[in-house]
Amino acid sequence: MRCDLTPAWKSLQTHAQGFVGFDLRAALATDEARAPSLSQVAPHVFADLSKNHTDAATEALLQELARQTGLASHRDAMFRGEAINPTEDRAVMHWLLRQPEGSLSGALAEPLARVHATLKPMLAYAEQVRADAQITDVVNIGIGGSDLGPQMAVLALQDVAIPGKRFHFVSNVDGHELAAVLQGLKAENTLFLIASKTFTTVETLTNARSALAWFEAQGGTDVARHFAALTTNVAAAAAWGITTTFGFWDWVGGRYSVWSAIGLPVAIAIGAQGFRDFLAGAHAMDQHFQSAPLAQNLPVRLGLLDVWYRNFLNYTSRSIAPYHSALRRLPAYLQQLEMESNGKRVDRNGHALPFGTSPVLWGEPGTNGQHAYFQMLHQGTDVVPVEFIAVKKPTHRLKDHHEWLLANVIAQAQALMLGKADEGGHKHFPGNRPSTFLLLDELTPASLGALIALQEHRVFVSGSVWGINSFDQWGVELGKVLAQDIHARMASGDNAGLDASTAALLQRLR
Ligand code: F6P
Repeated sequence: MRCDLTPAWKSLQTHAQGFVGFDLRAALATDEARAPSLSQVAPHVFADLSKNHTDAATEALLQELARQTGLASHRDAMFRGEAINPTEDRAVMHWLLRQPEGSLSGALAEPLARVHATLKPMLAYAEQVRADAQITDVVNIGIGGSDLGPQMAVLALQDVAIPGKRFHFVSNVDGHELAAVLQGLKAENTLFLIASKTFTTVETLTNARSALAWFEAQGGTDVARHFAALTTNVAAAAAWGITTTFGFWDWVGGRYSVWSAIGLPVAIAIGAQGFRDFLAGAHAMDQHFQSAPLAQNLPVRLGLLDVWYRNFLNYTSRSIAPYHSALRRLPAYLQQLEMESNGKRVDRNGHALPFGTSPVLWGEPGTNGQHAYFQMLHQGTDVVPVEFIAVKKPTHRLKDHHEWLLANVIAQAQALMLGKADEGGHKHFPGNRPSTFLLLDELTPASLGALIALQEHRVFVSGSVWGINSFDQWGVELGKVLAQDIHARMASGDNAGLDASTAALLQRLR
């Protein structure tokens, strides 16, 4: 049943009216059980949800909503490999990429065997590149999911990455980006990874063509050694002239593809065992998502909280605040994950929805954000739930830094909640502002894998309750088509049939 037509939705609406005066400070002061019961241990991740605008009754109603909208059976359908992406008639099986070898029987045994038959040569190739001292620079050319996942993960794991190799990520069709990277490179020392699920993306193919032209102009000849393609469309890569290819399958969505061949830069950076640990961390979270009861299931609790905030308390955005500079691309990664998955205005059958879906995600690492936009979080007119992500143990040995970092992240969560009432006017902090606190013991391949899988599944949960297809992205198509038309008009000078604004802009660019 559509979520807004369920009895639980009605109960939540009534419940939300009674929630208007909810005060976090009072809730924590009067309810001793609040902090422990709104905490959740999950594989590699501890979550403190107690500074959120929620309570046991809200969670119980949200779990009822999950039951009435069939969340568990939808989840189980994904893990059975059913075609739960109806608009593309595809299964959704990124989770299979992290499933241990030989661990499934029946219809999934064969695709799982293919996953491992593909993973092994990919990891062997990663080890070969690691051992190849001549290759000092790895340039990943890809965009969206073919860029953000590997970029985020390579940066996050830089402390365990192989020394002596630099990793570059070129995504934008803006030639300034590629030109700046190429400036510092030598053809004989460079490996280009052309990452594109479809191998049709204009940005990626334009960058790849320029990279190849640069390589040849530098005297490079051995394309098989210096170019590899990571794609589901091996035939297109071969037609393009790349023979070193690593494949994956259409049942891996672009924004869910870091676990596939798209993760090759990560595997080169952290090695075969590191990549296997990354997969294992994610698999542990898959198991938690599949087996923990709804009330103790962290992706479920987070995804349902997202629904509560979006649809009942009308909070339209979420700020991501990783207090770890190596997680600096995590906000951008999560932006695609959430907003491309759940930024939908129709249900799975194409019918317009009368309620809001994806929140706006944004953020920067702490403490930087504190000295920029946290002003708005503390004293602005909108309530923005913040998701803090902290790591207990640092990998550097610099004195004082990590203590200050952790003191700040705790203090920000506290300040948002407590506020400051004793001074009026400009110095008044209203407080009662919600936040979630995710804590990792260490930033390792395994804990990063678990953190990312957690985020994937929480997006699944809210998308499932909303009844939307979280696994297509038709909203990106129109711009692609119009860019083809405009590109042709820039060459021809033909403005016929254009609206006056577009025609005038084109005229100015001529
Ligand atoms: O345009 C959106 C999109 O299709 C994303 O979903 C995807 O991650 C990105 O483009 C790149 O696509 P590809 O990997 O096929 O080049």
